[in-house]
Amino acid sequence: DARSQGRSISLRAQAGRTSFFPGKESRTLGYNGSYLGPTLRVHRGDDVEIAVTNALDEETSVHWHGLLIPGELDGGPHQMIRPGATWRPVLPIRQPAATLWYHSHVHGRTAEQVYAGLAGLLLVTDDDEKALALPSEYGVDDLPLVLQDRQFESGRLILPEGMMTLMHGRRGDTLLVNGTANPVARVPRRLVRLRLVNGSNARFYDLAFADDRAFHWIASEGGLLERPVELRSLSLAPGERAEILVDFADGRAIALEAGPDTNAPMVMGMLARAADLIGRGREPVLRFEPQGGEAPGVKVPERLVAHERLDPSRAVRRRRFAMTMGMGGMMGGGMGMHGINGRPYDMERIDEEVRLGDVEIWEVSGEMMAHPFHIHGVHFEVLSRSGAAPGPRDQGLRDTVVAQEPVELLVRFTQPAVAAPFMYHCHILEHEDNGMMGQFVVR
Ligand code: C2O
Ligand code: CU
Ligand code: CU
Repeated sequence: DARSQGRSISLRAQAGRTSFFPGKESRTLGYNGSYLGPTLRVHRGDDVEIAVTNALDEETSVHWHGLLIPGELDGGPHQMIRPGATWRPVLPIRQPAATLWYHSHVHGRTAEQVYAGLAGLLLVTDDDEKALALPSEYGVDDLPLVLQDRQFESGRLILPEGMMTLMHGRRGDTLLVNGTANPVARVPRRLVRLRLVNGSNARFYDLAFADDRAFHWIASEGGLLERPVELRSLSLAPGERAEILVDFADGRAIALEAGPDTNAPMVMGMLARAADLIGRGREPVLRFEPQGGEAPGVKVPERLVAHERLDPSRAVRRRRFAMTMGMGGMMGGGMGMHGINGRPYDMERIDEEVRLGDVEIWEVSGEMMAHPFHIHGVHFEVLSRSGAAPGPRDQGLRDTVVAQEPVELLVRFTQPAVAAPFMYHCHILEHEDNGMMGQFVVR
């Protein structure tokens, strides 16, 4: 895989052919290659110029998911790049170390472009992280892992279509990690850091090791937690990331597995089809094969980084967002538009206006199934879930959170979005493309 380092980076969105299975070529999209893109590694304090060239025969845009930057640099639907054009944002990196990602965000075509391969990782590092001496040898004991499910027919990638796709989001029978089917990772016999990124269109993962071993969760979407949290399983919704430390000192080969994805609206005859989609048992995501002798590795640190606590009483306003499924239209045989608070996304309409520097409470819920709610240009904390204290997986700073029963988020708006708005949306990409998105300005 490719890496980029330094202050000026070129990304070229292009079409290509990828052999996911030997001798079977699929038409795919990638940045600088045929599927996915290079991992971009940037340091807090850098100003990084990225030249993004669109070598596709259709429009695209590149969104820096999780980066705290002003609206006009964000790469959402308003920063569309025409075929043949180059967009050159200079990105000010002013946030803590974190595992972020970038992906296509052209309105109405995000799901298809990401499915075809337009996504990559963006890793932010800083001095606080370096001082912790976490495993950090990229590709050796610090592994970026992009989890995606894809549908294949005779070894070739196909694009599932139809009403079920609109409802559930596009899912597939084959799990890929970094674009590889049946993946195996050779790891040293010591503590290893995994940067898990759910780059799937719709699939939720319930991850655990086959031997149920414990591991430590160390970072959420916004960066490192205050202290490691020991877990034996971890859920990851589309758009979410988690960093974990796993000890392979015992030298045993072991698989990271995912449980069945049961997230689907249970209505009418769809139940049967849903059961077919989700009726699989636990399946391997990635096999680990520890190599060599036991290596003296680092220990799991007691503490990670201090977080500044925000007092919820500083919130100046409360807004409510319900992710709605637009079932009426579908049942009547029409297309049916998803929406937020019943309204489908409209590029020409500003849904909310926020004051720069404000802290607000956003109350988010979702209809009929669990939806990962993502807000551009902010970090937030989860204040409550279903009216109760948040669970262990809700801690840390986040930019994406799963909602069905209401969650209360404490959101701070530190980035201006005047020339172009920020988005908030469901990260099931078919929901987003079909209207489950809104936009807001910050000034
Ligand atoms: Cu990762 Cu608006 O998206
Ligand atoms: Cu985003
Ligand atoms: Cu959704």
